[in-house]
Amino acid sequence: VTENAAPDLVNNDEHPLGHGRMLRKEDPRFIRGLGKYCDDVQLRGMLHLAILRSPMAHARIVNIDTSAAEAHPKVKAVVTGAALADKGLAWMPTLSNDVQAVLATDKVRFQGQEVAFVVAEDRYAARDALELIDVDYEPLEAVADVRTALAPDAPVIRDDLEGKENNHCFDWETGDAAATQAVFDRADVVVKQEMVYPRVHPAPMETCGCVADFDRVDGGLTLWSTSQAPHAHRTLYALVAGLPEHKIRVISPDIGGGFGNKVPIYPGYVCSIVGSMLTGKPVKWMEDRSENLISTGFARDYVMQGEIAATKDGKILAIRTDVLADHGAFNGTAAPVKYPAGFFGVFTGSYDLEAAYCHMTAVYTNKAPGGVAYACSFRITEAVYLVERLVDCLAYELDVDPADLRLNNFIKPEQFPYATKTGWVYDSGNYEPAMRQSMELVGYADLRREQADKRTRGELMGIGCSFFTEAVGAGPRKDMDILGLGMADGCELRVHPTGKAVVRLSVQSQGQGHETTFAQIVAEEIGIPPGDIEVVHGDTDNTPFGLGTYGSRSTPVSGAAAALVARKVRDKAKIIASGMLEVSVADLDWDKGSFRVKGDPTSSVTIQDIAMRAHGAGDLPEGLEGGLEAQICYNPSNLTYPFGAYICVVDIDPGTGAVKVRRFVAVDDCGTRINPMIIEGQVHGGLTDGVGMALMEMISFDPDGNCLSSSFMDYLIPTALEVPHWETGFTVTPSPHHPIGAKGVGESATVGSPPAVVNAVIDALRPYGVRHADMPLTPSRVWEAMQGTLKPS
Ligand code: CDP
Repeated sequence: VTENAAPDLVNNDEHPLGHGRMLRKEDPRFIRGLGKYCDDVQLRGMLHLAILRSPMAHARIVNIDTSAAEAHPKVKAVVTGAALADKGLAWMPTLSNDVQAVLATDKVRFQGQEVAFVVAEDRYAARDALELIDVDYEPLEAVADVRTALAPDAPVIRDDLEGKENNHCFDWETGDAAATQAVFDRADVVVKQEMVYPRVHPAPMETCGCVADFDRVDGGLTLWSTSQAPHAHRTLYALVAGLPEHKIRVISPDIGGGFGNKVPIYPGYVCSIVGSMLTGKPVKWMEDRSENLISTGFARDYVMQGEIAATKDGKILAIRTDVLADHGAFNGTAAPVKYPAGFFGVFTGSYDLEAAYCHMTAVYTNKAPGGVAYACSFRITEAVYLVERLVDCLAYELDVDPADLRLNNFIKPEQFPYATKTGWVYDSGNYEPAMRQSMELVGYADLRREQADKRTRGELMGIGCSFFTEAVGAGPRKDMDILGLGMADGCELRVHPTGKAVVRLSVQSQGQGHETTFAQIVAEEIGIPPGDIEVVHGDTDNTPFGLGTYGSRSTPVSGAAAALVARKVRDKAKIIASGMLEVSVADLDWDKGSFRVKGDPTSSVTIQDIAMRAHGAGDLPEGLEGGLEAQICYNPSNLTYPFGAYICVVDIDPGTGAVKVRRFVAVDDCGTRINPMIIEGQVHGGLTDGVGMALMEMISFDPDGNCLSSSFMDYLIPTALEVPHWETGFTVTPSPHHPIGAKGVGESATVGSPPAVVNAVIDALRPYGVRHADMPLTPSRVWEAMQGTLKPS
């Protein structure tokens, strides 16, 4: 890690958030293998559930014979879609107001779809019994290609929807089509490029699963589940199952990575609840890796026609795109209701444009549902890839340096808050210093010289830039909700008599270090050491309501809530201090951890003294209740807009097309930095994700809809061998509306890195006249691009 020239505000004791790089409170359990994950939950009499999945992508179910499975000595229940339909539970709502089959009733619509489940005494028996279920399928033609899904003769996938006669899912547009056309008409240069962001999978280390425990006596349901949003899930269960919320407790224990994959409610959760209700026993369901890859929320899968308009001297004027979005068999996209394409509207990037327009058509195909925000804030990864590839295509056409082209077109610092042509208001930004820092760190000018020299010898070296602006922290209630639930977050802080504290969050960590950073936020506001602040999350009975963790929303929304609830407690502490010191509130100064009488440094009380007084003997100022605690619900006024400048250096073997990422410099700006060590960890992880997507990851299908990427043998994810030593830097441009100026960072690197890698590869291939090649840039694709035989994907 390169520490850069900018002052590290957080390591500076003068800086308010001086706890800086404290080690993660959660790591003692994680690094010793003592985390408690869903699969660690063991309950007395617990049964095990396994799901029978469709081997076909599109087929009518003619008959299901479960008699042999039911006769298995260890089997307690076998349930089909027809049985669920009798109870009105065969279908459930998706996060995008569509419906999805819990178990197929009429037909199967993707390979891996849930068809029946078995509950048995152990996991092996449950699996064995699946083999005994006999399903008679009548195969139907499958729609596996998004480009032919709307052909007039394409089979209709969603014939369950009344009146549905084609595979159209939705249309969406943003920006001004006519104004954009006018700008394109007068532009000197227009560059068009089709680009495909392939279907990829978040592939968290822990797959999805749950333990459902329904108590037949009191009617209560406890569900341990791999959920990034326990409160939202509880409300949806309440709505679907008709149970009151106070009878449902959702516990998300330690989670082995989520990356958006654990936002949706999967049929497996519902089946487990039904299984527990049927048997009166706790029921555990844990997916295996293939189940996770073939049936749970995928990401991306956009075919984008991009166009960029500019003057001949390199002023970018407008961007336009037409997108074909593959949503799979059910629209399971996780996005706020008003944003069916998520936050794709930020495809205008970090540039000051005159006009922009996007039209999108989403279609159903015979593939797994999803469209989850895989380490990105709702489709921003696709948007950033589009704009950053287009800028490089323009640089190619104009034959100018891509870094200079970016520097010449950035939104200027004085233009913030900046309203984009698609209706987003970027809160703050200062792009040029970040870009320049990345160029300095990587040694840009020297690298270009090295490249020129290598080209004379036929060696293939590429340098790729990308500059991104993200929109994170969904979101303001007036605009954003998921299935009618506003995207605000609660936070509760309770200071105990001895001055130790507990802060309860509505967000749910999946490894991001919230137990550390949220303690740091509260510590900074209230002066209690972070080690004395316990962070509670992931249990609906013990935390306030809120919409959970995805889209890097924890720090922008819940982090703000944590700061504000601490300030509320501090305000009360001040009144108590004024009584203890017998002065008016106006005569007190706050000195991180104690209140002092102005002008009399010897008269002070610590927050610990105040906590004891709040709970102990002695009078409190008139009208003040005892105790030292508060609760708030924070509704953000805007999103936060972190940004970053990334530069990737690659070498390509001209004999094989294999790409080696030699260097990668990432300069991120996430406003005020709470814990730089954790930020760097988030960035390292995201960059690794990005290299994976750019070079090796793709969920692919054959023409019959068979998933060809159902294991880590076929769906390649990067390891330490494929990634370089990461070099990071940062700038700090606080968010003006966040109480501590922080912006999210968890997903910045996943968003910003794929275009940097692809731009580097294309740059390396310039001697071959290659302007674009679609991800993943596997050796064979690079080789074909070099030979001029690469077909559009
Ligand atoms: O929602 P999620 O936790 O995935 O993303 P995030 O809010 O960007 O935070 C990821 C991790 O980085 C958390 O532990 C944050 O507290 C930390 N972080 C930080 O230290 N400083 C920031 N400005 C932003 C995030």
